[in-house]
Amino acid sequence: MTEQQWLNRLSEALLGGLNRAEGDPHRPGWHIAAPVGLLNDPNGFIRFDGRYRLFYQWNPLACAHGAKAWGQLVSDDLVHWQHLGLALAPTEDYERNGCYSGSAVDNNGELTLIYTGNVKYDRERRTAFQCLAVEREFGEFEKLGPVLDLPEGYTGHVRDPKVWRHDGHWWMVLAAQSEDGQGKVLLYQSADLHHWRQIGVLAGSGEQDLGEFGYMWECPDLFELGGRHVLICCPQGLPAEADRYQNLYQCGWLAGELDWHGGRLAHGDFHELDLGFEFYAPQTTLDDQGRRLLIGWLGLPDDNEPAQPTRDYGWMNQLSCPRVLSWREGKLYQNPVPELAALRGEAFDWQGLAVQAPRLQGGRAELELVISGEVRLYLGQAAVLTVNAGGLELRRLNWRSGEWESRRWHGAVTDLRLLLDSSSIELFINEGEAAMSARYFPGAHPEIRWGGAGETRFRYWPLAPVL
Ligand code: FRU
Repeated sequence: MTEQQWLNRLSEALLGGLNRAEGDPHRPGWHIAAPVGLLNDPNGFIRFDGRYRLFYQWNPLACAHGAKAWGQLVSDDLVHWQHLGLALAPTEDYERNGCYSGSAVDNNGELTLIYTGNVKYDRERRTAFQCLAVEREFGEFEKLGPVLDLPEGYTGHVRDPKVWRHDGHWWMVLAAQSEDGQGKVLLYQSADLHHWRQIGVLAGSGEQDLGEFGYMWECPDLFELGGRHVLICCPQGLPAEADRYQNLYQCGWLAGELDWHGGRLAHGDFHELDLGFEFYAPQTTLDDQGRRLLIGWLGLPDDNEPAQPTRDYGWMNQLSCPRVLSWREGKLYQNPVPELAALRGEAFDWQGLAVQAPRLQGGRAELELVISGEVRLYLGQAAVLTVNAGGLELRRLNWRSGEWESRRWHGAVTDLRLLLDSSSIELFINEGEAAMSARYFPGAHPEIRWGGAGETRFRYWPLAPVL
């Protein structure tokens, strides 16, 4: 499609679809979702010119994956986001099957996007180009075309460039599948964003002590935190284990020491970033307060059939809340950004036996909890959280199978923070030592009810809809 055809079809989709999407009781009140159509990965997250900019993988024309465009948003405070519409649409030959995921940099005051032009020849064969686009005076993006072809020794599965500046150079991590079918992350360097030189294989399946560790590592991100380097990546093809790797694809982190010259990260074990049911393709940025912020997709690729009930309203998927990362005692901690407190209504405090706790309005709400003994929280009819001395279990009703499924965390729970939106749950355990996220579909006015023999002390806030 040409750009004009894209704009025509987008206008049609928005004119016909916006009211319908807004009428969905499961539409998020404070999480980012696409106005219409399907959203997946967050892209191009950056603090630029005094504001937060965020882009996302978007198919505005259908609730299905397909030739992806980039949608865009802007915010002053990470809470109120304004949709700015389409940033990139796949109009050129080198991106004809999608402007796939990528990142944004501030190149001397020019907001520059680096993304993957995806080209499929048939079901099996594809190629990919890493491409540039620069924001111009009226907010339009001028495409500068491909700057990097497929590297030697890799299949057409090469994508998701994350670029940053360090020590006078541009650096890029790139997801790439080697010809023997292993997922790798490559490190590149450039002086000008146009010419790139491969420095090494940063990490991957078959590298270091990992052994076979997946056939593709999507959406890599590398940054410094607390004096070490952390690589976030999304390996595909890890077999499920007792209480690990329960989702179709994984998302996690490896930390260690980066050898900038050899292009290699000497790292420890792989840890899952979120132990819930769906969390994928997160992207981080460093803001002007020096915070490492992360936002992820509360969804998984290849996991859409049968679709979520929101498809009847013409939209699908949402992002996570923005989170702040920190490094404590050898672990990556994540917590919701403090700015989200702006959503809170009047606080309600309560303490006593869980079975005597009052019912609370679910939907959009936040709870800070301390628990002793066994306590259960029923989140509408669609999810149940059970906490006891051994840890915690989150169960939810799977909308595809109609069956209950569960995810667990083992350890002593000292405190919990639960953030609810109309169709999502985000749980932060022990000040962010672990996180668990889930989509759920509890209907229009879900209540929070209590059970179990234990005691609880909590503070509850209703959260205002702002999006
Ligand atoms: C991850 C992903 C990326 C790709 C994009 C396409 O969810 O598969 O690897 O760039 O989505 O939408």
